[in-house]
Amino acid sequence: MGQIVISGGGTGIGLAAARLFGADGNRVHIIGRRPHVVQEAAAALNTEFGEDRVVAHAADLTEIADVERVAGAVAESGDPVDVLVNNAGGNFGRAGRDAALTEIAADYRANFEGNVLTAVLLTHALIPQLARPGGAIVSVSSIAAVRGPGSYGGAKAQLHAVTFEWAAALAADGIRATAVAPGFTEETEFFGARMSPEFHAGRVGQTLLKKPGTPEEIAEAIKYLAGATNVTGEILHINGGAALGR
Ligand SMILES: NC(=O)c1ccc[n+]([C@@H]2O[C@H](COP(=O)([O-])OP(=O)(O)OC[C@H]3O[C@@H](n4cnc5c(N)ncnc54)[C@H](OP(=O)(O)O)[C@@H]3O)[C@@H](O)[C@H]2O)c1
Repeated sequence: MGQIVISGGGTGIGLAAARLFGADGNRVHIIGRRPHVVQEAAAALNTEFGEDRVVAHAADLTEIADVERVAGAVAESGDPVDVLVNNAGGNFGRAGRDAALTEIAADYRANFEGNVLTAVLLTHALIPQLARPGGAIVSVSSIAAVRGPGSYGGAKAQLHAVTFEWAAALAADGIRATAVAPGFTEETEFFGARMSPEFHAGRVGQTLLKKPGTPEEIAEAIKYLAGATNVTGEILHINGGAALGR
């Protein structure tokens, strides 16, 4: 049995990853800001598994005190962390082209904090607990990192840069760092009220395969990268051909 930490594990891609790692018998920690969401997700998965393997943590990972509290709780078992999945995030930008500078600044700050700082703080808090050798960090980026939009895509591109940094800095300890970059993935809370049949069809239409991605497909990629013992510093794009050659 291993120990897995998944930020944003209460919904969407993170929940699918929690189900996959939990089904393999691992202890899985899931983290999200809304207590009822992570608690209900953990209870449902534990019912599926028939035993308590999933532990819920309510925390805002942009807050240092919350991150330290979660890292302390994960350390209680004394077991190393085998896989850290930095999945928490989203597009927190809402400003239109004609928005005021204050709104544009707020978007950039929110996307930096929500997509970069969440991953950076949790990773640095857990580095001492990562398995040596064999630990793996898998962060969830986005197709937006290579094609925009700016404040969200820029934050995800920074996640690539920190992945490269971690890969180089932690290789001597036998720890690998990679990222998966999904394209349009349905059955998540990512698009919120923007989702409609027309929006869905438009996103699917951008792919060569003419299908939406699923959280399960991304979870399988996360699991692959977590166990790919000769892969580090790589970004795996999964987008149905919506962006080529990456
Ligand atoms: N769906 C797509 O098409 C798509 C495409 C490319 C990349 N992605 C990326 O995939 C990742 C997972 O998103 P998803 O699609 O599965 O959407 P989702 O269902 O909205 O999942 C995001 C999760 O992150 C949690 N979260 C957000 N901010 C947090 C914070 N500050 N602290 C702790 N938890 C936080 C959310 O829970 P709370 O709100 O309760 O905190 C939620 O469970 C994100 O990084 C997203 O950018 C998604």
